Amino acid sequence: MEKALEDLQQQLKEQEKLASLGLLSAGIAHEIQNPLNFVINFSKLSNKLLQDLTEIVEDNEDKIPEEDREDIDDIVADLKENLGKIVEHGERAISIIQGILLVSRGKEDEFLPSDVNRIVKEYVWLSYHAMRASYKNFNISIHEDYDTTIPQVMVIPQDLSRAILNLMNNAYYAVWKKSQESGADYTPTIDVKVCCQGFDIEIVIKDNGVGMTNDVKQRLYDNFFTTKPAGQGTGLGMGIIRNIVEDKHHGKLSFDSEPDKGTRFIITLPMKKS
Ligand SMILES: Nc1ncnc2c1ncn2[C@@H]1O[C@H](COP(=O)(O)OP(=O)(O)O)[C@@H](O)[C@H]1O
Ligand SMILES: [Mg+2]
Repeated sequence: MEKALEDLQQQLKEQEKLASLGLLSAGIAHEIQNPLNFVINFSKLSNKLLQDLTEIVEDNEDKIPEEDREDIDDIVADLKENLGKIVEHGERAISIIQGILLVSRGKEDEFLPSDVNRIVKEYVWLSYHAMRASYKNFNISIHEDYDTTIPQVMVIPQDLSRAILNLMNNAYYAVWKKSQESGADYTPTIDVKVCCQGFDIEIVIKDNGVGMTNDVKQRLYDNFFTTKPAGQGTGLGMGIIRNIVEDKHHGKLSFDSEPDKGTRFIITLPMKKS
């Protein structure tokens, strides 16, 4: 009986891992990289062609009526801006994918020299896009603050990213829930901060969502404890996060929360350099 329960627990843990990472396996990430490169390269090429076109227009200045000339300039400027945006966002997508590939390269429980800022950033946005896909028409502002002086440190990238994803998903859910109960003057907000604190790295994820009652706080880390409707929560996320932070990384996970005001989680990791 004990064994069966343990097996079930393990199975659910695996499911939570899979669910939290969604469909984004390394294979898919790799496949997406190629078409994205096409998008970026053709935008750059189009920008060059636009430059050539501008030169031809300039050479034929005298043959083009003044009004048309203004319209042409406006259109060319807009096209340049649009192409710039395509390149910018395409490159952003590439960097997310490279983050996933990088993270999924690490083996289970393998410490690797890592850029914590980068891991946090990628998974904050991964969570954002995943949640946006499930909660349509729900807007939220995310404020980020990264200390760029943080050196590479030894972490288990797979696990750290999982922890960030779980915390972000919970925060996202908390602000979504609050928005359902609040008026139009409520602005769902999540603040993310990564900074050095002496010999530690501190990752702070703060939301202005529903917050937690004392009862929830007390049972937060209990396996299977969830306040989400059936099918939406497994109640395993927080236990997994604490295991990742405290048992595997010898760090500390703490929080404070107030009903209706919001919640703040702090991950403290010892700065073990490579
Ligand atoms: N940021 C948060 N704001 C409010 N409540 C939270 C937050 N994070 C966690 N919780 C509470 O803790 C419970 C357990 O979280 P977790 O272990 O991740 O399981 P799940 O997300 O599947 O419910 C949640 O159901 C919720 O009640
Ligand atoms: Mg969760």
